[in-house]
Amino acid sequence: MDKKTIIVTGGAGFIGSNFVYYMLDKYPNYRIACLDALTYAGNLSTLKKAMENPNFRFVKADIRDKDAVEQLFEEEHPDIVVNFAAESHVDRSIRDPKLFLETNILGPEVLMDACRKYGVKRYHQVSTDEVYGDLPLDRPDLFFTEKTPLHASSPYSASKASADLVVMAYHRTYGLPVTISRCSNNYGPYHFPEKLIPLMIINALNDKPLPVYGDGLNVRDWLYVEDHCKAIDMIIHADCVGEVYNVGGHNEKSNIEIVKLILKELGKPESLIEFVEDRKGHDRRYAIDPTKIREQLGWEPETKFENGIVKTIKWYLDHKDWWEEIISGDYKNYYEKMYGDK
Ligand code: NAD
Ligand code: DAU
Repeated sequence: MDKKTIIVTGGAGFIGSNFVYYMLDKYPNYRIACLDALTYAGNLSTLKKAMENPNFRFVKADIRDKDAVEQLFEEEHPDIVVNFAAESHVDRSIRDPKLFLETNILGPEVLMDACRKYGVKRYHQVSTDEVYGDLPLDRPDLFFTEKTPLHASSPYSASKASADLVVMAYHRTYGLPVTISRCSNNYGPYHFPEKLIPLMIINALNDKPLPVYGDGLNVRDWLYVEDHCKAIDMIIHADCVGEVYNVGGHNEKSNIEIVKLILKELGKPESLIEFVEDRKGHDRRYAIDPTKIREQLGWEPETKFENGIVKTIKWYLDHKDWWEEIISGDYKNYYEKMYGDK
């Protein structure tokens, strides 16, 4: 593979950091420059190992900061930009929508303007299946395809859907070489403890209640994070400018199934489950049809859920330092505000 320089934004977060490690490992001759604002969700300790690699560079900056973004493009002359940076948690978007609209819509605009200015050959927007809204539980025959109309429910998903529209507008209006991936729920190492799977693992380990929203029957389509990284790698190297790809592994599970599985793996009692007030506007079911990426790019998920979840639980058991530092900091205040009144 020819030498390439890739700017990865949001690389100190969950999926971005997994992508950084995936790419450094797979392409020893690539340069990876990570730009991340280190919000509450970004953690520099996650990138400690990457920092030892001479092909890796970290820059602390906000994707909305035009000067900082342009300076990095000037210094690195990237071939490809992959944008993971976003406010990503639905519950936080319900409490504070403005930050989501600013980061998730205006951030991509700044990045794409820089891509135009510096002639970047590919801008890849990491989007989500949430842009399609939700599906009913009683129609298991329905799936999201790339042709499903955008129909976002939460301020988070509305901000991601808006960004997708702006990305496609930059392609049509300015001819910017863009691609978009819309992936289902990821799980795996470095997942921030506010999200369902890591939250439940950590609470169970600490014998704390496991807060399940509503009836616990909402369904998510879970994909091991490395399979998502592989999909993005394939898309950014393929001749597919202007295309949108859905990414998912047909692995639908209800929240209560996930929670019970985690308790069983950890040998903890189901009496720890606590049904709490539902999320406002809670999407019922997500389910991705990944036919297009499989047929056009040959992508297939490699990790089966039964193995991925065991690997993930083991990772949290082996990396207590990583999450103990998080749950004892600012996140503690969020947790008290979020669950204290439920
Ligand atoms: P995350 O919250 O774990 O990480 C987000 C990262 O972006 C953090 O490192 C944070 O510091 C950084 N960031 C936030 N605002 C920034 C800004 N203004 N400038 C620079 N950096 C900023 O998120 P994640 O779960 O890793 O998700 C990454 C991307 O993938 C997001 O765009 C999300 O919408 C999308 N996505 C996530 C999932 C999932 O299941 N987690 C699934 C599909 C798509
Ligand atoms: O589908 C992709 C999306 O997946 C991404 O775009 C988002 O960035 C990512 O956060 C994720 O969104 P979800 O809302 O699906 O993930 P979360 O982990 O917050 O919740 C998963 C399900 O679990 C959802 O139905 C709500 C429920 N839940 C969540 C929490 C945090 C609970 O029942 N209790 C909880 O405490």
